[in-house]
Amino acid sequence: MSIRVDLDGPADFKGWREAARRLAQAHVEPERIMWRTGAGEEGDLFDEAAGPDRAQAWPEPVADGPTLTVPRRFVDLAELVVCHRDPERFGLLYRLLRRMQVETRLIEIATDDDVFRAEAMAKAIRRDRHKMTAFVRFKEVETPDGTAYVAWFEPEHHIVELTAPFFRDRFANMTWSIITPDRSVYWDTRTLVFGPGGAKSDVPADDAGDELWRTYYANIFNPARLKIDAMKREMPVKYWKNLPESSLITPLIRAAQSRETAMVDMPQDVTPKRAAVIARQLSEKPPAAERPADGSLAALRVEARSCRRCPLYQDATQTVFGEGLESADLVFVGEQPGDKEDLAGKPFIGPAGAMFDRALGDAGIDRTRAYVTNAVKHFKFEPRGKRRIHKKPGIGEIDACRHWIENELAVLKPKLTVALGATAVRSLTGKSASVLSLRGQVVGSHLAGPVFVTVHPSFLLRLPDEASQQAEYARFVEDLRMVRAFSEGAALPTLS
Ligand code: URA
Repeated sequence: MSIRVDLDGPADFKGWREAARRLAQAHVEPERIMWRTGAGEEGDLFDEAAGPDRAQAWPEPVADGPTLTVPRRFVDLAELVVCHRDPERFGLLYRLLRRMQVETRLIEIATDDDVFRAEAMAKAIRRDRHKMTAFVRFKEVETPDGTAYVAWFEPEHHIVELTAPFFRDRFANMTWSIITPDRSVYWDTRTLVFGPGGAKSDVPADDAGDELWRTYYANIFNPARLKIDAMKREMPVKYWKNLPESSLITPLIRAAQSRETAMVDMPQDVTPKRAAVIARQLSEKPPAAERPADGSLAALRVEARSCRRCPLYQDATQTVFGEGLESADLVFVGEQPGDKEDLAGKPFIGPAGAMFDRALGDAGIDRTRAYVTNAVKHFKFEPRGKRRIHKKPGIGEIDACRHWIENELAVLKPKLTVALGATAVRSLTGKSASVLSLRGQVVGSHLAGPVFVTVHPSFLLRLPDEASQQAEYARFVEDLRMVRAFSEGAALPTLS
């Protein structure tokens, strides 16, 4: 007689583990168990035909039976396998569990049929998860409680529960839902709530963000690198219909041939020596596809949204790019966005920004005529309860992010760049130096031309007493007055 196990959904790992442990301890043969998920899978249909009265009460564990042991590797594998759509997945895992009690190293035998099948399923899940993290595109919607984000996605397997924590950590401060045909998940900035699936029509068809994606995609599309097979492998055709940029794929592929011909037809006046330099630069620089297509700050800004140059993008809400006049004479470079900047996507708008604005005003500098940016474009922090505590960026992060400031400065070509604090000095000069020893001086930079060094406004916020706060604030304003004088043509002190 068969034993029916009712799982709590199609990817209920916990339910499977508890039932499997109990049944294996009672020595129940794999063939006797019907795993039901309630998701209309094969096991469910078979079970309905058999009728609930055919199901039998669960046997008691064998009292003196051995305790079950499984290697961690099996648990990790099983967590993935339960997400597969194969209706036999729970039975396969149970069979492996039973066999492992005798064949203790079974999980290491990759050629074993059961192990092979389970590994293949796990691989499919990893791939499906990767696709979900790469191809979910949120649409902005206005709700009575504010802005929320909704996305439609069609995974191949039951991966919503498994993949939701990625989106929770990445978009912790946004309210969002991801709807799939089988399952949906909702994040209210505190809890992940899972529910039934939905329809594509539940998600708005288009929004302003889609236009940005299309601009970005058209800008990074490089005809010389076009490999349609590889593209389809990485971005399978079935996902195209839900990506805003997909409407561009066919026209861009069609145009690629003529664009490539134009590139090949460019004058071939490069000497072998220069070719070697270019080859070295290319190996050090990001591929051309990642560089701004039209050389504008707007293109850079769009490109920087998907920056993956260091791991900071994983936890930050968004890239905080520089802001201000493209024709600015003065560029101010801070350290990295703080909590407020990370949420708003704008530099220097939090407490340090308020201090900075006040000092700029007292020095007679109009922020709207300048350009303000940061050395590092993603917020680095440590979660502490509900708070996100600022963490100083490391040298590796500063150096990885230099690509952006380098490109910003190449477009802006300011008269003077102001380094606010040590991180900006490191970014602009490539050297780690004490700000206090350089303060009030101009140092050279291969990126930026003259760089004036002063303290970071948050230094003023950390001073312990009123007297030193006032004195240091006055010094900071004095530094900014020098900056203003220089931007108006006066000579500045240069480092000897
Ligand atoms: N501190 C910075 O360095 N930059 C900001 O944008 C905010 C705080």
